[in-house]
Amino acid sequence: MKELLMTLSRKEKIGQMLQIAPFFFVKDLKVEVAGPVEELHLDEEKIFLAGSVLGIGNPNEMIEVQQKYLEKSRHKIPMLFMADIIHGYKTIFPVPIAMASSFSPKLAQACARVSALEASTSGIHVTFSPMADLSRDPRWGRVVEGFGEDPLLIGDMSAAMVKGYIGEGYDKPGTIASCVKHFAAYGAAEAGRDYNTVDMSRLSLYSTYLPSYLRALEAGARLVMTSFNTVDGVPCTVNPFLLREVLRDRWGSNAVTISDYDSLKQILAHGVAENMKEVAYRGVTGGLDIEMQSAAYANHLETLIEEGRVEEHLLDEAVLRILELKKDLGLFEDPYRGASSELADQIVLSEAHLAASLEVAKESAVLLENDGILPFNKETKIALIGPYATERNIIGPWHWHGCWNCHEHLAEAFADQTIFVKSDPSVESYSHADVQKILAADIVVLALGEKEWESGEAHSKSNPTLSKEQKELFSWIRRIHPKVVTLLFNGRPLILDDIVTSNALLECWFLGSMSSQAIRSILLGETNPSGKLPMSFPRNVGQIPIYYNHLNTGRPYLGEHDHNEYVSKYLDVKNTPQYPFGYGKSYSQFVYENLQVSKKVFSPTDILQVTVDVTNHSDRDGQEIVQLYLYDKVGRISRPVQELKRYTKVWIHGQEKKTIAFQLSEKDFSYVMPDGSTVLDSGEFVLYVGGSSNHTIETTITLKGTRA
Ligand code: GLC
Repeated sequence: MKELLMTLSRKEKIGQMLQIAPFFFVKDLKVEVAGPVEELHLDEEKIFLAGSVLGIGNPNEMIEVQQKYLEKSRHKIPMLFMADIIHGYKTIFPVPIAMASSFSPKLAQACARVSALEASTSGIHVTFSPMADLSRDPRWGRVVEGFGEDPLLIGDMSAAMVKGYIGEGYDKPGTIASCVKHFAAYGAAEAGRDYNTVDMSRLSLYSTYLPSYLRALEAGARLVMTSFNTVDGVPCTVNPFLLREVLRDRWGSNAVTISDYDSLKQILAHGVAENMKEVAYRGVTGGLDIEMQSAAYANHLETLIEEGRVEEHLLDEAVLRILELKKDLGLFEDPYRGASSELADQIVLSEAHLAASLEVAKESAVLLENDGILPFNKETKIALIGPYATERNIIGPWHWHGCWNCHEHLAEAFADQTIFVKSDPSVESYSHADVQKILAADIVVLALGEKEWESGEAHSKSNPTLSKEQKELFSWIRRIHPKVVTLLFNGRPLILDDIVTSNALLECWFLGSMSSQAIRSILLGETNPSGKLPMSFPRNVGQIPIYYNHLNTGRPYLGEHDHNEYVSKYLDVKNTPQYPFGYGKSYSQFVYENLQVSKKVFSPTDILQVTVDVTNHSDRDGQEIVQLYLYDKVGRISRPVQELKRYTKVWIHGQEKKTIAFQLSEKDFSYVMPDGSTVLDSGEFVLYVGGSSNHTIETTITLKGTRA
């Protein structure tokens, strides 16, 4: 590609660093140039030098845009077509926070594989996924797009999605490249308010917030999207610490860096540039390759080079990465790679794809409470009440091309056993006759939640909880009926108050195209729920941020029996979350016992074998997510009271006992210091194994003779 690079004019090189929406190429440019393009100050020459577009919608559109572009292009370098395929293209899978609840990277990979097969028929080459942003704050609307609060789980799920998108390799059909986002630490926006400042220690960055992006890159992600927030007061889009020191120097990555939507231009609002020329300067020196939907590079980079303020090699390095990506995707051989209406008709929304989505959905719901009322059977007469009783839009935010009203809603899924259905959440709207029908039902199924648009980008909430009306509806139903099953549809952990007094409480998140079928399968017992929470549910907003892998403090509160006044606790709420990371119930009862380690005293070179017996004390087969946590009791810096180090999902038949084995090595006992170095200390470690971060059995082991 270096030879091709040398043939390009400076304008042509700079054009490769511009990404705009595709409609500029197919509509009357005089209209577009004077219209939305006006604020970009792009003329037709610059538009037809762009290196990529985002947001194409179908194969014919892609072919038309690429054709028009190449007709006018001197260099004949095809454009890259990118889009947001976050949890499915047209067959929609559960939202990422729901997929994370499955603790099954295999299922995330299956989602990505189907997404790539469907999206590539539209000629899409790159997806802006996975979102590897760790978050501990459910006020932030975008937790719906991420995989929760734990670095290991997020890293596993992100890497699995990248592998799913790539499939057998870019030279095979039905594959797309992955762009991991949003780099970096976007999920730590202060007060959970989207786009807000991120200010954190290097220790938090290196140990908690950065590892999952690296996991996605190691799995093969070819692009990194910068985030809207600042780190150290510097917008991530122009942050040389992140884009050069971490990404290039520490990680040795050659990924293409791309801004978020006009996030380069936004550094004006951040107050780190006074005009678009300085914006271009900060971007190219900061390490940004592609500018999405703003035109600082297109309009000012050439002048900066001519003035000698920017060295041309910075331009060449960026453009070479872009050309290499296009080559690896086979665009020079086939600029229309994958685009096919015929293939789209065959595979998009196919039965096989919908079946795959259903399988993921069944394992993504989390059973939070159950006094035995679930599962019920097909003869059970239910009253189905609440806004989600007849709501079809349960496929979640960022469903983009997904058809939100093409699939059955709950009332249709339970049509043969509902004696009363009402979606109106206002208690006053229920007549005496309604009440009689509700009382005649064996069970009331309350379908509550947030609107699909209440989470997602720019949709943060200062108080992540249900509406007052829905809470009143719950309290009323709770008063008048003894058997209440509550279903939650939401894109973030919610503060649930007395909703937790439901006889059964199922966290359904937004489960995608097959939501209703998956929920029906669980409520009728055809599926034994196995999901676990990837993010803590706070008791109230004052607890936020609340997460499982916290430090002990110097005055830890030891629980209800601890009557010491001067300890780290609240006067008005417990320290523990309503529901912790890793928590989720099953229709089975799993009992953990006989935790064994191959060595109670071990050395850094040992591979430690850990086994535990898990018995299913029920007659119902079920899956259990066995979790292994570690506590480093003494380190050079204070260490989290628990860190997830392993997990595995196993089928255990009724009354069966299974011995689960894990292996641990030196790497698992090492940790990152504030300077980014990795260290290992001798001393005691506590191993916790169980079905939740707060329900485990434990053993203590000792590491001798570290290399430090
Ligand atoms: C949005 C989002 C980002 C998305 C991009 C392109 O603003 O922040 O996640 O990929 O724009 O649509």
